[in-house]
Amino acid sequence: MLYSDEIIREVRAQNDIIDVVSTYVPLRMRGGRHWGSCPFHQENTPSFTVNSDTQFFHCFGCGAGGNVITFVMRIEHMDFVDALKLLADRVHFILPQPGDSRAERVKHAEKAKAAEYNKIAARFFHEQLNAQNPFASEAREYLKVRGVNEKVQTLFGLGLSPPGWDNLLRHLTASSTGEAPPTPSDLHKAGLLSMSHKEGNRYYDRFRERLMFPIIDPSKRVVGFGGRIMRESADEAKYLNSPETSLFNKSSQLYALNLARKTRSTELIVVEGYMDVIALFKAGFTNAVGVLGTAITARHVQLLRRNGCATALLLLDSDNAGTAAALKSIPLLLEGGLRVKVLQVPDAKDPDEFLQNYGAERMGKLLANAQSHIVFQIGLTQKKYDMDKTEDRIRFTEEAASLLAPLSSEIETDAYVQETARASHIAPSAIFAEVKKQRDRINADGGQAPLRQSFRNVRKGAEDPGVREARRQLLCLALTHPPAARALADSGCLSPEEMGNDVFSQILALSYQNIFPAPADIVSRFETTEAQQQAAEVFTKPITYSTLLEMEKSLNEMAVIIKRAFIDTQIELCGSKNDLNAVNSLVLSKKNLQSQYITLSNG
Ligand code: UTP
Ligand code: MN
Repeated sequence: MLYSDEIIREVRAQNDIIDVVSTYVPLRMRGGRHWGSCPFHQENTPSFTVNSDTQFFHCFGCGAGGNVITFVMRIEHMDFVDALKLLADRVHFILPQPGDSRAERVKHAEKAKAAEYNKIAARFFHEQLNAQNPFASEAREYLKVRGVNEKVQTLFGLGLSPPGWDNLLRHLTASSTGEAPPTPSDLHKAGLLSMSHKEGNRYYDRFRERLMFPIIDPSKRVVGFGGRIMRESADEAKYLNSPETSLFNKSSQLYALNLARKTRSTELIVVEGYMDVIALFKAGFTNAVGVLGTAITARHVQLLRRNGCATALLLLDSDNAGTAAALKSIPLLLEGGLRVKVLQVPDAKDPDEFLQNYGAERMGKLLANAQSHIVFQIGLTQKKYDMDKTEDRIRFTEEAASLLAPLSSEIETDAYVQETARASHIAPSAIFAEVKKQRDRINADGGQAPLRQSFRNVRKGAEDPGVREARRQLLCLALTHPPAARALADSGCLSPEEMGNDVFSQILALSYQNIFPAPADIVSRFETTEAQQQAAEVFTKPITYSTLLEMEKSLNEMAVIIKRAFIDTQIELCGSKNDLNAVNSLVLSKKNLQSQYITLSNG
C-alpha cells in the first residue's frame, strides 16, 4: 500500500534518529555530533555520525547515509514499507490500513492541505511584522517593550495579521505556484477564515490586527495560531486561537513543544501563556511549553511522555485560577506516569513578569528548588488553617495525612510526615499512625496495595520463586519465538537489562541481525558455556502454546512479573542512597505496569 508523504513525514518526525540508531549502535557525543562504529562496514575507529538537527546519518568510512527510514531499511534488511511499519509501531502510530475508508483518506489529505495553508499564512504574517508601515512599526515597538527581541521573534516565527478583512484571503487565493490555489472554503476548513452569514456566506480573515503566534506541532507542521491584540480592549478577547479543525485541537497541542523537545530534556516546564513560554526561552529556559488556555488533558500528558518528558514542572501564574488548574491536572499527570513538581510564581503575576522584574538568575534558582506536588498540596492545605489554633492544627494534619496516604514510597512518606509535624507541632508518630489508618482504609476499599509489601519482597534476598519461574518461561518463549522477544524489547515493555539474562540479550542481538536460528540449533550459538547451559536447561522443560493469543497473554504476564521485580530492586537501591526523586519515579513506573501490554501479530 502507498502511504502519503504526510504519513511518512509524521512517522519520521516521531522517530528521532538518535533514539532509533542508539538502539542498534552505541553513540557518543563529540563535537556537537553523535558518533559510533558504523554498523554497515567493519571499522576500528568510529566514523559513523548521526546529526540530531538534520536527522540524517552518515558514515565517512563507507559513505552510507540517509534518514531514519533508510537506516532501518539497511540495518533490518527491510523494504521501505516494512521499515515504515516498524518505526510506526515503535511510537504507537497507527498507519492507515488498506481497508480504510475513502473518508479516512480524504481526512488525511485535508489535514495535509490545512497544514500547508497554515504554513503559508505563518510566512505571510511573519513578513507583515517586518513590513515598512506604521502598523508593523507599532507591533515591533510593542514586542520591544515586552522584551521580545528579533532573534526570539524569528525563533518562534512571530507575525502580524494586518488591519482589513481580506489580506490573508487575497494572499492565499492568489496562485503563485501555477497550482490551483485554495478556495475560501478550503481556508475556512483550515481555520484561517471566518464566515459571515449576513450577506450570503461571506468569508473574511479570522485574524485581524493581532500579533500572531504560530502553533507548530512536533512534526513541524503549523497547526494553528494564537493571536493577541496589542491594545487592551474591553470588547475583544485578548487572545484568539484557531478554531477546532482537522489539524487543530487546543486540548491536544502544547505551544513550543516543537522547540522544547529539541533540548531532549526529561523535565519540561509547563506554563499557562504564550508570553510566558517566550520569556522563558529568551532567558535560556528552552524546555518550556505552554497550554493554550485550557486545562491539562490526558492527551497533553501523552504528548509530554511521547516527547521524552519524565517530569512535568508546572510553573503557575500566581492567581487562584492557576492553583485550581494545577490541582486538577496533578492526578492526570501522575496517572500518565509523570513525576510532578509544582511552583507558583512569587511576587509577580506570571513567569513573564517575574523574569522582567527579577531576571533569569532568580528564575533559575526558583526552578531548581521546585518541589514535588505533595509539598505544594500540603502548603495549600496549610494556608487554609490557622496554626495558632489547636482545632485547625488537627484538621490540617488530618488533611495532610490524606494526601500522604496514597503515596507508595515509605521514604517519601516519612519525609513529608516530618515536614507536616514541624508545621503542625504534632508528633510524627501520631501523624504516621493517621497515614497508616487511612492507608488501611484505602486497602479495605480495594485500592492500591501499600508499598511496604514490595519492600518486604526485596528484602527476602533470594529471588522469589514466582519471578524465577516467569524468567524461565519467558526465556523459553524467547528461544522458541525470537520475534516475540524482540517485540517485547522493542516496545520498551521489558529491556534486556530488566530481564537480566545473558541468553535473552543474545537472542535479541541475533534477531537484530535478522538471525532466527531454529530452537535446536540455538544452544550452540551461544559463546559462553554458561549461556549454553542456561539455554539447554530451558529446553528440558519446554512450554507450548496452543494459540497466538495464549502466548501473547503469557508473554505479557511474565514481562510484568519480571519488570516489577526489577523495579523493586531499583527502589531498594535508590532508597538506600536516599534518592527520593528516583524512588518516586520508580514507584510511578511500577504503577504503570498494569497498563503495559503488547500485541503479537501473526507472521
Ligand atoms: P494570560 O492572560 O495569562 O496570557 O492567559 P499571557 O500569555 O500572560 O499574555 P500577556 O502576558 O498578557 O500577553 C494565558 C493563556 O490563556 C489563553 C492564551 O493561551 C494565553 O496565553 N487565553 C487568554 C486565551 O485563549 N484567550 C484569552 O482571551 C486570554
Ligand atoms: Mn502574561
